[in-house]
Amino acid sequence: MTNKLTWFGHAVLGLETGGQHLIVDPFFTGNPAATAKAEQVNPNYILITHGHGDHVGDAVSIAKRSGATVIANAEICGWMERQGVDNTHAQHIGGGYHYPFGYLKLTLALHGSALPDGANGGNPAGFLLTTTDGKKIYMAGDTGLFGDMKLIGEEGLDVAVLPIGDNYTMGPDDALRAVKLLAPKHVIPIHFGTWDVIAQNPQDWAARVVKESGTQVHVLKVGESFTF
Ligand code: NI
Ligand code: MN
Repeated sequence: MTNKLTWFGHAVLGLETGGQHLIVDPFFTGNPAATAKAEQVNPNYILITHGHGDHVGDAVSIAKRSGATVIANAEICGWMERQGVDNTHAQHIGGGYHYPFGYLKLTLALHGSALPDGANGGNPAGFLLTTTDGKKIYMAGDTGLFGDMKLIGEEGLDVAVLPIGDNYTMGPDDALRAVKLLAPKHVIPIHFGTWDVIAQNPQDWAARVVKESGTQVHVLKVGESFTF
């Protein structure tokens, strides 16, 4: 079985695994980096790391049209229900659940989570997914560096998806330290280049990661996929 991870620009990820189609942080409308449109995605599940507009994005409209189940923390799921989304599954940090696509655990993230209308979005999170074929993928979400990434790395990661944009999240230096703590086989940088304030050179970062760690870097173009 293969798992296919697609970067749609900024922090938007598509994941095809176990016969299911997931979309993470579906910010298409108003996303200067996105080439796809919200109407083009048809997921079974929508995963949301935190409440900020560049992550919640088009989740409500996609969920209503597709009937996808929204997975997020309890505060965001409650907000989704108040927007008329029928199918949600609330989790919280440290908790995992077995879905048809694998075992999904919410992880710590150091960030904010207010929703677009100012509602309380609870605590921000990352996701640690163990696919049905045993692959481990860590999607950090928006976060600063934290030492407990070492604990997440102890799970034995196949893929880590990390922000490198700086300003709102880890920048390249701390993202490199994150790679060393997580020790994934593969890393994919995201959350850079969308706006000038988070402009970065991912190739420079990739060269540093290759030099200073045993991790392979995959710098995706928008719309490109990585299979594992
Ligand atoms: Ni954010
Ligand atoms: Mn963000």
